[in-house]
Amino acid sequence: MTQARLKVAVTRKLPDPVEARMAELFDATFNFSDEPLSPAALIEAARGCDVLAPTLGDRLDAAFFDAAGDRLRLVANFGAGVDHIDVAAAGARGITVTNTPSVLAEDAADMAMALILAVPRRLVEGVKALEEGRFQGWSPTWMLGRRVRGKKLGIIGLGRVGQAIARRARAFGLSIHYHNRAPINPHVEEELEATYWESLDQMLARMDIVSVNCPHTPATYHLLSRRRLELLQPHAYVVNVSRGEIIDEAALSDMIADGRLAGAGLDVFEREPQPNPKLMAAPNVVLLPHMASATVESRIEMGERVIINIRMFADGHKPPDRVIP
Ligand code: DGY
Repeated sequence: MTQARLKVAVTRKLPDPVEARMAELFDATFNFSDEPLSPAALIEAARGCDVLAPTLGDRLDAAFFDAAGDRLRLVANFGAGVDHIDVAAAGARGITVTNTPSVLAEDAADMAMALILAVPRRLVEGVKALEEGRFQGWSPTWMLGRRVRGKKLGIIGLGRVGQAIARRARAFGLSIHYHNRAPINPHVEEELEATYWESLDQMLARMDIVSVNCPHTPATYHLLSRRRLELLQPHAYVVNVSRGEIIDEAALSDMIADGRLAGAGLDVFEREPQPNPKLMAAPNVVLLPHMASATVESRIEMGERVIINIRMFADGHKPPDRVIP
């Protein structure tokens, strides 16, 4: 398979320089619109191609792989999360799946940190109050939030993004706690002065702010279930820039509406693009439209990563960002 003849189908509008480079390197077809392809159009795009470059919103399940035909060898996802791809079904058909994990971690961490600051300090509430003409001048008791410094931050999933958040959070005086399936490299743990909690339940019960940073898999679906959310202290905040499905959003919405949690900062939702209406109505919640990695730099680097993965694969090497089923 030579690069010149490699047929690549790109399913969604990508940054112009990325599309231009792909057009140069590959026999590429593009969906130049920013609308996701329908399931039928997705199959049509993949048929007869060596490589599919999909993104979030393209559902690639076993039925898709059966319909896409035998030529498809690589799915080079534009994005870190691959919960829209049945990686095991791909693997069973000899199809490699890659993603773009490292390049967006710092930008995603910036956004998580922005939420960690914005929610306790009522930043968006303050902006709205000003815009709506409710600012009557400084007052000793108006718009009081909670101090961030000295609080305990519990990170669920201390991977690339989680570690980048921890570095930022330490500079703001938060202590770092984390839950993973296993402790991370002891050198990194030491550098971050991070405390490992084998029991997620026990960690949740003691944190002031909880940040969700694990991938969405069948094992992490509703990891923050109603029962677990109820373990949180009433003054705790929840931040999520990973995937909405990891939190039982209805339970979170109920608890915030009933004052059993102090607030939340969410960039992702269970049923995007629609957050739970109770969340939309809550003043102590900051909601963002899935934009944690939305910088020009990240999106171009994500595209470059897709290209690197395709080229390595085409040259017969293992692509660097292979997702292991
Ligand atoms: C990802 O990469 O999975 C993000 O959620 C979208 O950039």
